[in-house]
Amino acid sequence: MRGCGQCRSMDLTTLHLGMNKQAIEQAARLLQDGALVAFPTETVYGLGADATNGRAVAGIYEAKGRPRFNPLIAHLASFDLAGGQGVFSPAAERLAKAFWPGPLTLVVPKASTCTVSEIATAGLDSVGLRVPDHPVARAILTAAARPVAAPSANRSGHVSATTAAHVAADLDGRIDAIVDGGPTKVGVESTIVSCLGESVAMLRPGGLSREAIEHVLGFALAEGTEGAGDELLAPGMLASHYAPKAHVRLDAARAEPGEAWLGFGPQDCGVGAAAANLSPSGDLTEAAANLFGMLRALDRPGIHAIAVAPIPAWGLGEAIRDRLARAAAER
Ligand code: TXA
Ligand code: MG
Repeated sequence: MRGCGQCRSMDLTTLHLGMNKQAIEQAARLLQDGALVAFPTETVYGLGADATNGRAVAGIYEAKGRPRFNPLIAHLASFDLAGGQGVFSPAAERLAKAFWPGPLTLVVPKASTCTVSEIATAGLDSVGLRVPDHPVARAILTAAARPVAAPSANRSGHVSATTAAHVAADLDGRIDAIVDGGPTKVGVESTIVSCLGESVAMLRPGGLSREAIEHVLGFALAEGTEGAGDELLAPGMLASHYAPKAHVRLDAARAEPGEAWLGFGPQDCGVGAAAANLSPSGDLTEAAANLFGMLRALDRPGIHAIAVAPIPAWGLGEAIRDRLARAAAER
């Protein structure tokens, strides 16, 4: 076997797989053998390991250089399979039925039949579950026939990967395989909602809008920090995260000398080589899909900061603003 957690070497030859039937079968077999396989989801690329194999999951932290054992999302092929891992309250079930497969992660109490390893849940009594809406991800999950733990497939602290080339830039030589399924559609990570006890709270804005979730629930989401207020509730939500090397300056009117410009909408006046527009038409869905790729592209030698135009706070704008604020945070 290529990359067991015990003997993980950081100069592996990473296999680059396409998205044909053989590639998917090979990816699933590698996962079953305890290897690390990056694969596309509709949000961002995930770095997958067999969630039931603690040693394989530990390899994820090592490959990413993740400093702490944050809980990971367990990905499943269907709601029925997720039902064996977590206990779904009526609200959780309603959300799963409305939005799965899709860019929503539900944090629910662990079921007595939960097979996700303690290291993947970071020893919590809850588990983060998601059924992704990507044909390659679903085919791999179905063939692997087990929950797959997968954080975003980037080095810890970097922006998430939305193409196989981004994954390779961060993780080539550190993981066993990368399945190339083209650029991801949504472009920001899933929205995380916890359904623990009576409370339904948003832990992280993401690819599914608050408005869509509240429409199905029929009531407003609580905030993740409410009630629990506990660092462990979403320990991965460090203030400085998703960061390019250059500084990020938010709600900017224009780029200053030495800055790149990341614009939004038709009024955008960004010029020069180091300028990009998240969505010339002002479409927040398009902007989310472009966000991480454009941050990577503008993060070049000679650029000390990326100035970003104001982004509206509604719909997917909430997730975009959240990721930009983290990228802008002091490190
Ligand atoms: O779109 C996504 O969500 C991507 C794709 C690959 O599915 N995954 C992703 O994973 O963004 P990651 O590890 O970068 O973020 C997972 C977040 C972390 O902030 C973690 O703290 C939180 O989910 N999380 C996972 N399980 C949890 C739990 N039981 N309780 C609270 N937070 C949890
Ligand atoms: Mg991440």
